[in-house]
Amino acid sequence: MIKGGVAILDFGSQYSQLIARRVRELGVYCELLPGNCQWSDIEKLTPGAIILAGSPYSVYGADSPIPPVEVFSTELPVLGVCYGMQLLAHNTGGKVEGGFHREYGPALLNTKKSQLFSEIESGQQAWMSHGDRVTRVPSGYTIVASTDLLPIAAMENHSLKRYGVQFHPEVNHTVFGAKLLKQFLFDIAKLKPNWDMKYFSTQAIQFIKEELGDKGKVILGLSGGVDSSVVAALLHRAVPNRFVPIFVDNGLLRAGERQEVEKTFGEHFGMDLITVDGEDRFLNELAGVSDPEKKRKIIGRVFIELFEEAANSIPDVTHLAQGTLYPDVIESVSFKGPSATIKSHHNVGGLPERMNLKLLEPLRELFKDEVRELGRELGLSNLMVSRHPFPGPGLAVRILGPITREDRDLLQKVDKVFIDYLLEKNLYDEIWQAFSVLLPIRTVGVMGDERTYDRVVALRAVTSTDGMTADWYRMDPEHMAAVSSRIVNRVNGVSRIVYDISSKPPGTIEWE
Ligand code: XMP
Repeated sequence: MIKGGVAILDFGSQYSQLIARRVRELGVYCELLPGNCQWSDIEKLTPGAIILAGSPYSVYGADSPIPPVEVFSTELPVLGVCYGMQLLAHNTGGKVEGGFHREYGPALLNTKKSQLFSEIESGQQAWMSHGDRVTRVPSGYTIVASTDLLPIAAMENHSLKRYGVQFHPEVNHTVFGAKLLKQFLFDIAKLKPNWDMKYFSTQAIQFIKEELGDKGKVILGLSGGVDSSVVAALLHRAVPNRFVPIFVDNGLLRAGERQEVEKTFGEHFGMDLITVDGEDRFLNELAGVSDPEKKRKIIGRVFIELFEEAANSIPDVTHLAQGTLYPDVIESVSFKGPSATIKSHHNVGGLPERMNLKLLEPLRELFKDEVRELGRELGLSNLMVSRHPFPGPGLAVRILGPITREDRDLLQKVDKVFIDYLLEKNLYDEIWQAFSVLLPIRTVGVMGDERTYDRVVALRAVTSTDGMTADWYRMDPEHMAAVSSRIVNRVNGVSRIVYDISSKPPGTIEWE
């Protein structure tokens, strides 16, 4: 933890992570802690301010999360958001009541001259999402904002440095939200900007050097995706002669991907890259298999076998690096108790235990957009750091039914035309993930005077923030027509293109 940041107490709101992102965007380090942690956990972070976040609970609930009492008497400035404001009121002599209709959505906020709103004009839109509300402020507090429906929308006690807002400054619909957070962090709490990726990389490099000590090597499963690429760039900067990235080519990658990885990491950065040519092994083991879960299992198992073989050939390995990110860490330390812990695809199947390796997770404090920024800072190309996610099993789950080399080649060609089109027309960055799916059917078509009986390809493009939910990308019909005609004209064997208009849920992003 960097001194003078913000401790954000999480009480289970869907928006807690968003507060953390906003604070960091303003250049201030922060960490999320379970709302029911001990005061000593907060002290360990040596924060300069505390934010109490929202919650689906009511302060009156029997099992509602309660912060340590010191939060209400500390000299540190405290901002309570939604449930956080209600906690401040409920625990210091004010009153919170339920039973009103739930207020959800935009509301115009009337503000009074105050510390919190000194830079914010009255009458702007704020975003509400609450059932309970504060009906009496504690003594010493003043009411500093209201809406037509809500007499107490914000309160403050400037001499105690206590502030509460019933709306959510962290969501973009609160148009002055960033301004309000800025006011709290810099003008009220007097924090100094202490967080950017230049600073982070210096700290992380120092940490990696110390962690490795004066002997031993670190290995990494490099996939070509954003997270492992950034870990590679960081480790190469920190311990260039003691870092060995291992790239397993499973024969199911995007067109040209292996060459790109070898060029970037092997040639450009000059890393000691080991490429494992696994195409035959993977494709032979997958022959005739059509069940998607069986495909995933085979790919997972063969990956581990080949990765371990390569790792065993390197002398003196002491550490295995992984691209675990902060959202995965938060998920495993939520106040509800450890949930799914770290996502399984980050773990190279029990390898650390079998090979007696220590884990190194240098990105575990970062959000995805920070990882991208760090990647740029470390010299990765913009194309590399803004790449769409790609699943571990690769094209195996995009070729429906059994996999053959011919189908793999066909899909690689189609996908390249699709993705190149999106890049060329500057659509790629508007889309969270785009890809092509090869369907196991043929349909009748006509080309020139000939009747054809060729394959069907589905194009999928989705918008999303984290892949948990997604919507289909509203692609302009002119672009659809152009890309469809390019594919059919450039790739033999495909005569029909369909565009997937399913959202997630009820669909998933991948087809298998
Ligand atoms: P779904 O299809 O579950 O996909 O909506 C959500 C995100 O996860 C990716 N995905 C995978 N990634 N191994 C991975 O590493 C997998 O088996 C896998 N299945 C789906 C998918 O590409 C999307 O980004």
